[in-house]
Amino acid sequence: MERRTIGAAALTVGAVGLGCMPMSWAYSTSQQRGEESLRAVHRALDLGSTLLDTADMYGPFTNELLLGRVLKERRAEAFVSTKVGLLVGDQHIVANGRPGYVKRACDASLRRLQTDVIDLYQLHREDPEVPVEETWGAMAELVQAGKVRALGLCAMGARSARRPGTRLYDATIRQLERVQQVFPVSAVQAELSVWSPEALRTLLPWCEARGIGFLAAMPLGNGFLTGTLTPGEGFEPDDLRARHPRFTAEMMAANQPIVAGLRRVARRHGEAVTPAQVALAWLLAQSPRVIPVPGTKRARWVEENARAADLKLTREDFAEIAALPPAQGSWD
Ligand SMILES: NC(=O)c1ccc[n+]([C@@H]2O[C@H](COP(=O)([O-])OP(=O)(O)OC[C@H]3O[C@@H](n4cnc5c(N)ncnc54)[C@H](OP(=O)(O)O)[C@@H]3O)[C@@H](O)[C@H]2O)c1
Repeated sequence: MERRTIGAAALTVGAVGLGCMPMSWAYSTSQQRGEESLRAVHRALDLGSTLLDTADMYGPFTNELLLGRVLKERRAEAFVSTKVGLLVGDQHIVANGRPGYVKRACDASLRRLQTDVIDLYQLHREDPEVPVEETWGAMAELVQAGKVRALGLCAMGARSARRPGTRLYDATIRQLERVQQVFPVSAVQAELSVWSPEALRTLLPWCEARGIGFLAAMPLGNGFLTGTLTPGEGFEPDDLRARHPRFTAEMMAANQPIVAGLRRVARRHGEAVTPAQVALAWLLAQSPRVIPVPGTKRARWVEENARAADLKLTREDFAEIAALPPAQGSWD
């Protein structure tokens, strides 16, 4: 698989990564299968999808434990990307960016992952009680201590933190400029997909200008862009899509033209090509800095997603995707 660079540190990864979150978090618990997830991670490494994206809070903790079982045997083949800064309680998820906590959390992640170094350590969310420079300073000390290779920042809180009259990533960019004063940012992780393209306007260009990697989270629109979900089928109560405004039966029906467009483009490239692959190939073509991290717990989909790295879209394909209607239903 094509390799891409993360940040100035010249760390390289397979162009399509693997999002490990659905193995233990955010999607229906009843669908989680430990052994199948292990096979999916092994398959990703076999195919050169080396970037494994996890977080201590996925599970909580069980996602890192699962990856640790693979890393114990195949550490040298993998690029370990995990996150710190969110704590899961009984009823709430809270941010914790205190320096002492960050350092303890890193040691705990290293133990669970069965490794002595994390390749990319990402701040999951800013703690409103702690200046972000202090949290980032503690993370920088982890690099100096050799426990972490590079630092990243997640911009997933941007939608809820947005103030009226500002662009989606204005506050994220200000935050990035503050932490850059303390220690270099190697990667930014934010939502980017055919139906959520906002980061193309400001955040991705900001990263490109500085040689910073861009991990595209939710690149398949939480599964919608794959065309495998049926409007009205519903989601289990613990699935994030049960509360997501784009996943009501009405919005899923309204957004079908987007899937239909991806399917038309796929057909032009052959019977075996899927809308998911078109959605990933479109992302890969946006910039050599973009590394999509499609989430899955199934080896079969790991294989399908990895093959997207070989799909080259044409000018006609890009024009067709650009002409698709904007997605309906939003958190804003
Ligand atoms: N930093 C953050 O705050 C943050 C937030 C969200 C996500 N992320 C990262 O981004 C990654 C990706 O996001 P995501 O997993 O939420 O959304 P996603 O990648 O857009 O979609 C995941 C969903 O698509 C399904 N899927 C994957 N490949 C498929 C294929 N080829 N055909 C049909 N269905 C397919 C998966 O099903 P199965 O699970 O059944 O395989 C899963 O339900 C996460 O795993 C996580 O690493 C980070």
